[in-house]
Amino acid sequence: MDKTLTEAEAAAEMATLAQQIALHSAHYHGADAPVITDAEYDALVRRNAALEAKFPHLIRADSPSAIVGAAPASGFGKIVHARPMLSLDNAFEDGDVAAFVTKVRRFLLLDAETLVRLTAEPKIDGLSASLRYENGVLVSGATRGDGTTGEDVTANIRTLADIPHTLPADAPDVVEVRGEVYMAKDDFLALNAAQAANGDKPFANPRNAAAGSLRQLDVGVTRARPLRFFAHGWGELSAVPADTQAGVMAAFARWSFPVSDRLVTCDSVDAALAVYRDIETVRADLPFDIDGVVYKVDRLDWQDRLGQVARSPRWAIAHKFPAEKAVTRLLAIDIQVGRTGVLTPVARLEPVGVGGVIVTNATLHNADEIARQGLRVGDLVRVQRAGDVIPQVLGWVTPAAEHDALDDYAFPTACPDCGSHVDSEAGEVARRCTGGLICPAQRIERLRHFVSRHAFDIEGLGAERIELFVAEGLIERPGDIFRLHTHRDTLLAWRGFKDKSVENLLAAIEARRDIGFDRFLFGLGIRHIGEVTARDLARAFGDWPAFS
Ligand code: IVH
Repeated sequence: MDKTLTEAEAAAEMATLAQQIALHSAHYHGADAPVITDAEYDALVRRNAALEAKFPHLIRADSPSAIVGAAPASGFGKIVHARPMLSLDNAFEDGDVAAFVTKVRRFLLLDAETLVRLTAEPKIDGLSASLRYENGVLVSGATRGDGTTGEDVTANIRTLADIPHTLPADAPDVVEVRGEVYMAKDDFLALNAAQAANGDKPFANPRNAAAGSLRQLDVGVTRARPLRFFAHGWGELSAVPADTQAGVMAAFARWSFPVSDRLVTCDSVDAALAVYRDIETVRADLPFDIDGVVYKVDRLDWQDRLGQVARSPRWAIAHKFPAEKAVTRLLAIDIQVGRTGVLTPVARLEPVGVGGVIVTNATLHNADEIARQGLRVGDLVRVQRAGDVIPQVLGWVTPAAEHDALDDYAFPTACPDCGSHVDSEAGEVARRCTGGLICPAQRIERLRHFVSRHAFDIEGLGAERIELFVAEGLIERPGDIFRLHTHRDTLLAWRGFKDKSVENLLAAIEARRDIGFDRFLFGLGIRHIGEVTARDLARAFGDWPAFS
C-alpha cells in the first residue's frame, strides 16, 4: 500500500472504485458480457478493501465490500502466505505424546534432566485463517488453502466481531496472526434451525457451518453469521514480542485477540496428559466443538531449531480424542430419493447422546454397506460421531438369538416414492429410481436444486414451500415457478402466507428471471454438470442459442 496517500486522495480513489466496481458488477451479473477479466475485477475489489482497512473511517455508505454479489462468481482472489500455513502431526495414545517429547529431546541433544516445557490448549474444530496487519492495520485475511496459497477472504474476515481491525501502537509493523474461525454449538443449532425454516440445507456440523459462512462471495451473508475466532499461532512477525509460545499468546491477548482461556504450560508429559484428561472431561460442556489437545514446545529458540518435516512442525503435535460412540436401536431404514434418482438409505435411531449431541439419524451409505454389515431393523447398533462427519453406523451388537429372530433387510426393488423399477448401472454401487420426472421425489429435488443458492438462488423459495406448491399443484416443472404470479390470489388465501411474504416471494422470483448462463445451466441439474462444468460451458458458448 502506498504509504504517502493522503486522506483526500484515498477518499477520491474509494469513490472511483465504488463506481467502477458497481459498473463491472452490473455488467457481470446482468445479461451483458463482463468488460474486464475476473482478475482485473478482483484487483479493484482488493484495492478497495486495502484502502478501507487503512482508512476505516472513510468506508463509504455504498462501499463495494458490502454490495450483495459484488464479487465475481469465479471465486476469491488468491493470497500467497508470507510463511506457509502448516498442519499438525497427530498423537492418538499417551505413548505417542511421550515419543513426541523424546524426539524433541533427541533432536535438540537435551539430556533427560532438561525440562521441556510445553503449552497445551484445546484443538478447536474450525478452519484456520491468517490475518495480516501492516503498520497496525488489518490489510488481509486468508484461508489456509493448500498451505502455500489461500483464498482472499479479507472482506469476510472484517465482519467478525472477535477480530480487531487495528493493533495498539506497540505492535510490530508486520503481524500475521493465525488462528481458527469457528462457530459455537448453540449458534450452529440456531443457524440450522433458521436454515430449515427457510428450506435451506442444514450444515452437517459447526466446522462446515463456519467454513460455509466465511467463504461467502456475498459478505452480507458472512456478516449475518455468528463466526468467532481464536488465535493459536502466527506467520510473519517483524518483531517477536516474547521468547515463548505462551508469551506471544499473552501479547496477542493484550492486542485484543481472543486466545483460549484453557491455554496452560506443562513441565512434563504426565502434566500434559493430565490436561488432556481434564479437557476431555469437560469436552461435551464446552460451548464449541473440539477434537483434541495441541501441545507446543514453549521455547521459541527451540521451535526455530526444530523446524518442520513435510507439512508439520517438529515442535507441535495434536493429541486427538477418540471418536465418540454409543449403542442404540435401529428403528427403521428410510430411503431418500435424490435429484438424479439415487436411493440413499438412512438409519432412523432411538435418540441417543453421543458426545453431547443427540443423534437420531445416521448414514448407511448404500445397499452394499447394509448387506456387508448384515444389519436388520430392530438391531442394537453402535454409532460413531467423529468430529466433522455425519454419524455412522459401525455395526450391530444385538445378542445373537435376538438378531436371528429379526427379518433380513431387503433393499427396495421399486422406488418407495413412485413405484418405478430400481436399477443400478454396471460398476456403480448406487441404486437409482428409473422414474425420472414422473417420480415426485426426483421432481421435488430437481426443483429444489433449480432454486438453490448456486443456481437460480430464489430467496424465500425453500424446500418446504416447493413441496407445498407441488402438492397443491401450483408448480410441476421449473418454468412453472415463473408463472407462480398467476396464483397470487390462491397464495394470499392460504394460512401462513401474509401479503408481504407473498409479494416478497413473487418479487424474488421476478428478480431472477435474468440470470447468468452458468447458473442457468447448473440449475437444470443435468448429471455430470456441476458448478465448474457449467461455468466452463457458459464461458465457451456464452448463451443458450449458441449452446443449443
Ligand atoms: S497450531 C503449525 N493450535 O488444527 C501448525 N492448530 O490439524 C499450527 N487447530 O491447521 C497449528 N486448534 O487449523 C494449532 N490450538 C490449536 C488449534 C489448531 C485448531 C487447527 C489448525 C491446524 C489444524 C491441524
